[in-house]
Amino acid sequence: MGAASAQRIVERGYAEVVLLDIVEGLAPGKALDILQSAPVLNAEIRLTGTSDYKDIADSELVIVTAGLFRKPGMTRDELLLANTKIVSGVIANIVKYSPQSIILMVSNPLDAMTYLAVRASRFPRQRVVGMSGVLDSARLSTFVAAELKVSPKDVSAWVLGAHGLNMVVIPRLTTVRGKPLTELLPKETIDRLVERTIHGGREIVDLLKTGSAFYAPSAGIARMAEAIVLDKKEVLPCAACLDGEYGIKDSVIGVPVKLGKKGIAEIIELELSAEEKQALHSSAEGVRELIKTLGV
Ligand code: LAC
Repeated sequence: MGAASAQRIVERGYAEVVLLDIVEGLAPGKALDILQSAPVLNAEIRLTGTSDYKDIADSELVIVTAGLFRKPGMTRDELLLANTKIVSGVIANIVKYSPQSIILMVSNPLDAMTYLAVRASRFPRQRVVGMSGVLDSARLSTFVAAELKVSPKDVSAWVLGAHGLNMVVIPRLTTVRGKPLTELLPKETIDRLVERTIHGGREIVDLLKTGSAFYAPSAGIARMAEAIVLDKKEVLPCAACLDGEYGIKDSVIGVPVKLGKKGIAEIIELELSAEEKQALHSSAEGVRELIKTLGV
């Protein structure tokens, strides 16, 4: 996922990227391969690969994709213990070498790992954000577009909450050319698309058998990276550590976030019904349960 994200970012040409993996040779090999596409693409690509954390010194943005991914039959939450160890080590190195950076978390279970990154780095919560809502919303948009036979460009979807079984999909907030989904499809169809979205990652894991999605996730990462590095102030669904927003404290879930070069410029509080708010609260509660076992 790291290499795919690096490829998407360097091809846009606005940033210099360092690809890092602890496995000797892996990141330099990937970097060299991507670099050699530059003459064909007629692009200026600035990319190096390394296994030495010194080489990430003074990065503006560090994207953390490190960790194990799921095998068929596993939930993301089952990765908690193994990935806590891996991610803790990564965060310590980010603090050491890029203490002013923004951290973009992608490792699973996403919300708990984002929380771990906030606590372990001791960075202000505005400088740590997680990628999941962009991916989950893109999955819903894809399914809605296919169902209604419209362009995905005409669909605007907002998937909030945790990146897991407690995902919060609010069909009312998903619109097609401005019309809410609830006015376009019967409830049973919407429920089916929502279910497919919630299990969107698993569907791919089950098909691949030895891997997890990375094309759409890397597109989500690149979109967020661009909003941060180019200070776009774009509002995207992102995992953020809440401190009272939506009545939730000390937990991480996906909410609409205005992203810029300082990270989270603002957490947008949508008007939600009591039921929708309740769904967000249970999502945050689920993440808090996982966080408890982290001991941070
Ligand atoms: C997914 C993984 C990346 O949803 O969490 O595909």
